[in-house]
This record gives sequence, C-alpha cells and structure tokens, in this order.
Amino acid sequence: MSKILFISSEAFPLIKTGGLGDVAGSLPTALLKQSQNVRLLLPAYPEVLYKIKEKKIRASTSFYNQPVDIVETRLPGTQLRVWLVDCPSVYHRPGGPYIDERGHPWHDNALRFAIFCHTAVAIAMNQFKLKWQPDVVHCNDWQTGLVPALLSLQKKRPATVFTIHNLAYQGLFDQQTFDDLQLPEQLWHMDGLEFHNQLSFIKGGLAYADRITTVSPTYAEEICQPEMGYGLDGLLSYRKQKLSGILNGVNEKYWNPGTDFHLVQKYNQKSLNKKSLNKTALQEEFLFDVDASIPMIGMVSRLVEQKGLDIILQALPRLLSMPLQLVILGTGDLHFEMLLSEIAQHYPDRFKVVIGYNELLAHKIEAASDIYLMPSTFEPCGLNQLYSLRYGTLPIVTPVGGLADTVINASDKNIKNKSANGFVLKEHSLTALLNSIHHALELYAQADTWRQLQVNAMNCDHSWGKSAHQYIKLYQQAITDNPA
Ligand code: ADP
Ligand code: GLC
Repeated sequence: MSKILFISSEAFPLIKTGGLGDVAGSLPTALLKQSQNVRLLLPAYPEVLYKIKEKKIRASTSFYNQPVDIVETRLPGTQLRVWLVDCPSVYHRPGGPYIDERGHPWHDNALRFAIFCHTAVAIAMNQFKLKWQPDVVHCNDWQTGLVPALLSLQKKRPATVFTIHNLAYQGLFDQQTFDDLQLPEQLWHMDGLEFHNQLSFIKGGLAYADRITTVSPTYAEEICQPEMGYGLDGLLSYRKQKLSGILNGVNEKYWNPGTDFHLVQKYNQKSLNKKSLNKTALQEEFLFDVDASIPMIGMVSRLVEQKGLDIILQALPRLLSMPLQLVILGTGDLHFEMLLSEIAQHYPDRFKVVIGYNELLAHKIEAASDIYLMPSTFEPCGLNQLYSLRYGTLPIVTPVGGLADTVINASDKNIKNKSANGFVLKEHSLTALLNSIHHALELYAQADTWRQLQVNAMNCDHSWGKSAHQYIKLYQQAITDNPA
C-alpha cells in the first residue's frame, strides 16, 4: 500500500471544466478501492466550498503574504479524503478555475497555481505535521507542474509522477513572473523551467518528475514527434524511458446506461431496444420529427479547434441534407459558438445547438444518439468516446491519441470478428469525415449489424479499476526511481 497525494486543479463532482475533472474525480477513488492510501488536493474555489458538507481546518500558513488554510473534507458520495487549498485572495471569485467571467485567463494565474504548488510541496515534505506524508505525489497538467521541480531540490522527498492530460496547455508566463514568484534560481535553465525565455509550468513536470505519463499509449508516442510536441518533443524523447501511456476509464457510478438517473429510459445490452425511447424524448424536447428510425448524431464538447470543428463546419451543409438529426452541446470559442448557433437557426427541425455547460443534457445526448461525433485533430485520451461506447452510441473518430486506442473501425473484417465498435476516419479531412458518416448511415440501416456493433461497444472494458492497477505499478517504479 502506498500513500499517494493526488493533485489536480479540478475534480468532479466538486468542479469540472473537462476530462481532467472526470479523471481526478474517479482515479483517486479507484485507487482507494485497491487499498491505496490517497488524498486529493484541490483549490478551494467558491463552487467547491458551496458543495461540501463537512469541513475542518487542518493547518494554516501563508505564501506570498496570502493566508492559506488547508481544509479537510470528502469527495461527495465517496470515502475519499480531500484537502482544499483555501486561499481567499486568489480563489474566492466568481468565474471559472482558469478564466474570468468574460472568458479571459485570470491575470494572476501564475500566482494562483504557484500557491497551489507550494502548498502541495509543504504537505509532501510534512511541514504541516498532518501525520500523513505521501510516498508518491501524482501531479496533473501544468497547474501542478512546479511541484516536481520544487521537490527535486529537497533531500528526502516523495517520488513524483506527472500526468499530461493535454500538452497544448503549458502554463507559459514571462521571465518577470519567474522573478516575481521568487522561484529558485537553479531551476531557470533550458533543461529546467525555462522555455525560450519564458517560464513554463509544464516543464517542471516534464523535466523533473520521476515518471511521466499521459492518458493513452498512442498520445505518448505522438508527443515525442515535432508535429504534436509543441517544441517539447525533444525533452520528451530524451525522457522516453520514463514516459508511458495509461488510458482513462469510465466511472460506472455516473456513466452507466443501466443506472443513469438522468435518463428517461435506462437500458443495458439485453434491453437495447429501449435505448430509442431516450431518442424520442429528446426529439420531443427539441421539436424535431418524433420518429425512432431517424438516425441521431450527437456531440458534447468543448468548442475548440482540437475537437475537429473545422471539418464539422465544412461538413454541415452536406450533413444537414441527409435524413438525420444532429445535436451539439458545448461551450468554448465564441467564434464556434456563434457559427454553430447561426447555422442551427436555419434547420430547426433537424439541428439543435445548445451553448453552455449542462451535465444533465450531456447524459441525455449520450443515451439518445445513435452516433457520436468526435473527429479531433488530436486527443490525448478522450472520455466522450468511452461514454459513447458504454451507451451503445457508436463513435466516429479520427485515428489519433486515445481515439485510435479505443475505437475499432467497422471494416468488413472487424465486423466479422466482432471487434468493431465505431468508425475511424482514414485521416483528419472533410472527405474522410463524410465517408465515415456515409458508412455509419449505411450500417445503421442494417438493424442486425448495427445491434451487434452496439453490443461490441458496450462490452468494451474501460473500467477505472483496470487503469488504477496500472498506476499502482507505475507508482512502485517511481518510488524505485526516486534518487532521494
Ligand atoms: P476534454 O477534456 O479535452 O474536454 P474529454 O472527452 O476527455 O475532453 O472530456 C470532456 C468531459 O467534459 C466529458 O465528461 C464531457 O461530457 C464533458 N463536457 C464537455 N463539454 C460539456 C458541456 N458543454 N456540458 C456538459 N459536459 C461537458
Ligand atoms: C484532456 C484531453 C482529453 C483527456 C482529458 C482527461 O482535457 O483533451 O483527451 O481525456 O484531458 O485526461
């Protein structure tokens, strides 16, 4: 049994903007179930404080003259102990974890997450005498990147693991910020926190963690190449022996069509014919033609370039002339939000765009749709294709990252050997997308084949238990690698 301090800037159901929230709300609990001794460290945003019932201050300190309390609570609905970094001057504000109400990054994000990291380091080094010191500190994404760097300067320190959920977000700030944060001089060099004269939070993880992981084996390969490495491919290739990919999982507590309380009609492999009642309910809600035989395509996503919105927008005129219904729920770049909403106005009977973050609707779309659209330009892992598989909603994806590792194309051969569970584009292009959609619609018209594909999809095992098992092995390796 290891003691693991799991550090994340979001965790469902307390706070979530994307897949990281799902992972941090699921993996620590899965580790706990496998007898690991885990604590989750999270900033105390107002939304988080509002949602928790019990709380107890375990320690108090200050960083950069800002008072900080460590507040203990539990992740709602679980036994997992959560330590909240409560620093009112930087976290108690309306807006999101990373952006303000107008959608701009907080002006003091470097300070906000430096305080988070310093608190993590103090806990890791047992400075608060909390009667609990971790063997492993598991950091996630750039917001936690300073932790492995700062810990590397300590003599007797826990092992460090850094997980890349998305290399596109690096936490880059100017050199002045490095000085203002009074970070140790010895960390400022090209093999350290410096990245072309800028301070890079993520490099703190990539350069100093004992082990680096990312969320799929294919993405682990891709980020070592210049095309997807964002200039960090050299460092990642250099550290390749320490880099591996572990797939994310599906939290059955929230994403199981047999028990999902959000659904009008629950269903499972054996009662798949009931799935379409979710579709007819959504058709009614959106004032579409109510007809279970019309194929419905769904998408729930951050509306950013990564998610393939370029080719989706190009495909829309053709797509909307086909006998199908299309539903998109998302929020993100204003430009995409406006374009999609504008187009949808012209097709009220078959195209619905809902802008915003809506957990209930996300579940309803997963259950109602026949086909799920996810033609990402890159995808470290992706959770929505996993949820789609679980819900018998066949994903259409590009052959990248975690999508390539989890979706098996409905080729004749794969249909025959019962491994096919979705549709994989030949490449990221409009033509490839339209070809895959045509292919999906053709197979949708063959009820028996479609049913078999759905069963194949629903039988895939993407349980968190499986991934947690791999992380536990990795923690052992990190502990062995730790030179301190
Ligand atoms: P990413 O982390 O890159 O956004 P993932 O597929 O890993 O992509 O995870 C996205 C998660 O966020 C999923 O749980 C998805 O259902 C959820 N999500 C994204 N956008 C919305 C939205 N507008 N409303 C509700 N849930 C959303
Ligand atoms: C990131 C990635 C996504 C991944 C998620 C959780 O946001 O874009 O692919 O599933 O993190 O690991």
